[in-house]
Amino acid sequence: MTSLTINTSLSYPIYIEPNLLTDCSLIIQHCQKLASTWVIIADEALLTLYAKPLQQALQQTNPHCHLLSFAACEANKTREQKEILEDELFYLGCGRDTCLIALGGGITTDLVGFIAATFCRGIPVIYIPTSLLAMVDASIGGKTGVNTPIGKNLIGSFYQPSAVFIDPLVLNSLPKHLFYDGMAEVIKHALLADNILIELLQTQTAAILNLEPAVLTTMITHSLQVKKQLVEVDEKELTGPRQLLNLGHTLAHALETVSNYQLSHGQAVSIGLVIETELALKLGICQPALLTLITALLFLYQLPTQLPKHYPLSGLIAALSHDKKNKAQQIHFCFLQKSGEPYIQDHQYSHPVSPAIIKEVLQSLTGQ
Ligand SMILES: NC(=O)c1ccc[n+]([C@@H]2O[C@H](COP(=O)([O-])OP(=O)(O)OC[C@H]3O[C@@H](n4cnc5c(N)ncnc54)[C@H](O)[C@@H]3O)[C@@H](O)[C@H]2O)c1
Repeated sequence: MTSLTINTSLSYPIYIEPNLLTDCSLIIQHCQKLASTWVIIADEALLTLYAKPLQQALQQTNPHCHLLSFAACEANKTREQKEILEDELFYLGCGRDTCLIALGGGITTDLVGFIAATFCRGIPVIYIPTSLLAMVDASIGGKTGVNTPIGKNLIGSFYQPSAVFIDPLVLNSLPKHLFYDGMAEVIKHALLADNILIELLQTQTAAILNLEPAVLTTMITHSLQVKKQLVEVDEKELTGPRQLLNLGHTLAHALETVSNYQLSHGQAVSIGLVIETELALKLGICQPALLTLITALLFLYQLPTQLPKHYPLSGLIAALSHDKKNKAQQIHFCFLQKSGEPYIQDHQYSHPVSPAIIKEVLQSLTGQ
């Protein structure tokens, strides 16, 4: 069994193993230690495939295992949806002796994690992430929350799960474009700190794209190790290192905004990784070989590397200037010097870049 422990304010294990969901004895063992009432809150798209079979299996040990579901989409990752599910928990008679089981992608783990953080002032939650993005990113690090009409993820809390169970076999049912989206975050983690993962991505491409369970287990574990190192030293994003996870994301968030979310998060991160490396090149922080490496890796996993030419630069720059990581009205980016070597200067992990330089680089890439 592959596992790792995340040592934050509350330490918790992450298990990564094919068939963990079908043979759910380990999930049962954990839930038994946590509470006497168990409630699975699932993405309703996964009810037939995974949620109902899981409930049936858990009910053989504990008849007090309930199942709730919701339509998991960004429009429903809201305070209102949280309230609906909280009321349903009360109607089921749930109190502090309840453990929640989040089953779904990042929308589900973020929302259910936030419910767990506040229900009866905090109850245990375990995550069973089913998308690649949720496996390597959303289920680790303790960020939970909901969207508001003003912006994404603006209300939430840091709340650690009691355990995370990752079954790579569930990726077989994940639509392929969502798998590629998750690969953008895997590539980001590899670039930040794991040259072995880079080699795996380069040499085992076919096995990864064919979803071979053993190689996926290795890839997911390596990817988690990178985020683990950063969240353990900077649990609440206060001291700096955790900001490195924003590599490629400053540009990505602006691209998502100007595309009106027509570009997926993974596609936007992919283009963001390339453009931010172009910026680093312009600033003399890295060498051209890094750009070649990044572009080739993204290409292997069918991710876009070109900035679409039809987005007006003025809109992109305006969106960049609203980034929530900006300080003193300056746009900040995280950079790499080389693969595995983030650029850190004077203990700063993100760096201001003038709008003039950003504009020059974007103009040279779009011909605008
Ligand atoms: N908390 C964090 O640190 C963190 C980090 C990254 C992203 N996020 C959040 O995660 C969310 C995005 O996550 P996501 O991409 O997993 O979105 P998601 O939860 O919407 O899942 C994407 C889609 O895939 C489907 N799906 C998931 N697993 C499936 C499977 N195994 N088989 C078939 N279909 C499946 C879902 O029904 C959904 O339609 C965003 O809201 C983002 O803010 C949070």
